[in-house]
Amino acid sequence: MKVLLVGGGGRENAIGEALVRSGAELYVVSRHKNPGLARLARGYGLARETDTEKVLELARKWGVELAFIGPEAPLEKGIVDFLEREGIPAVGPTKEAARLETNKAFARSLMEKYEIPGRKLFRVFDDVSEMRSWIDDFGKPVVVKPLGLTGGKGVKVVGYQLRDNEEAKAYAEELIRKDGRVLVEERTDGVEFTFQVFSDGKRVLPMPLAQDYPHAYENDEGPITGGMGSYSCSNHLLPFVTTEDYERAFETLKATIRAMRKNGTPYRGILYGQFMLSKEGPVIIEYNARFGDPEAMNVLPLLKTPLTEIAEGIIDGNLRKVEFEKKATVIKYLAPKGYPTNPVKGVRVEVDEKAVAETGAKLYYASVDENLTLLGSRAIAVVGIADTLKEAERIAQSAIGHVKGELFYRRDVGTRESVGKRIRLMGEFGREFEPNSC
Ligand code: GLY
Repeated sequence: MKVLLVGGGGRENAIGEALVRSGAELYVVSRHKNPGLARLARGYGLARETDTEKVLELARKWGVELAFIGPEAPLEKGIVDFLEREGIPAVGPTKEAARLETNKAFARSLMEKYEIPGRKLFRVFDDVSEMRSWIDDFGKPVVVKPLGLTGGKGVKVVGYQLRDNEEAKAYAEELIRKDGRVLVEERTDGVEFTFQVFSDGKRVLPMPLAQDYPHAYENDEGPITGGMGSYSCSNHLLPFVTTEDYERAFETLKATIRAMRKNGTPYRGILYGQFMLSKEGPVIIEYNARFGDPEAMNVLPLLKTPLTEIAEGIIDGNLRKVEFEKKATVIKYLAPKGYPTNPVKGVRVEVDEKAVAETGAKLYYASVDENLTLLGSRAIAVVGIADTLKEAERIAQSAIGHVKGELFYRRDVGTRESVGKRIRLMGEFGREFEPNSC
């Protein structure tokens, strides 16, 4: 089967690998030539992922049978609707359905309208004085969010990026003046985790949970990034997520898919629930309309069911069982020095692929071109896979040294200490539980 993949990051390198592993003939369109994808693909076109006309032209030239959309920007542009109108079925939500990610007010209103569990108190404002008096009356810490896509940079939380509700009001005012509207939510305290599912619009099939490390520096310090690494456990839970929490979070995602159908905006594709596990249980922080990056690399290497079969199931409304190996995974992303605020660009890095392979780790390319020149975002990911988290972390760590250049990474991703810290935090937020072994 000829499959077109749109996107060229680490997430797409993992998607492309899983497609080829399941027998697909791969064709790729992305803004830069990802060296990992270049060697998997039969054809590679350089274009902006949002340039739907160009994507269509290449898809037709190659005669692809279906398309798989990696990032959110082309989904927001409506690439799935566009390709399907032209007779090319695509994995990913329509423009309307992708609003779960691309319009945070839509997502919160849907949760409210259909009483989806795991929702939280929110208001959308276009009037500065109404916003100010609501925050004053509310009196508790808030979160301020732009409504649209911001690449993870626009969300600010009182107690973290904002000192207090006074700063929150000033930031919300800035967003109203810039965008016309702003979303203000109650702050939820807890520990975040990622729950990704496949859906054909009706059936919802879960993937192993993962936990992302969004801060740039060790010990969860520094600016928020796309994610400096992530881990997952062989039991597909996380040490601080109980089976009951898992079931509740899964119910939230199933209720979301049901709500989208009732709402006349059926959702097909990958749905990513970013949850905060609070004292009261799992709460949705955000939805994403795609695989996570890096979290795609936690789950796709473990996939036992061919990804082409899943893709066809999503498109035909006939999604069947999806199985994953019972393994733990640890991903460490290497990013250019200065990322995310002032990244080094245009210099080359060295990768000893043979030595990486000898450690047992997998390697995925992201924001580097064919000559291994840094393009400014997360560059290369190494992935350890093993029966235990400890061993997976050891493997990822032993591979890191074989990638050299003006790069940095977080040594603490998936370590006993950092996972222990998350378990302790859950306790401090008032939850009593017995940690799962990982
Ligand atoms: N790792 C966060 C994201 O993919 O949005």
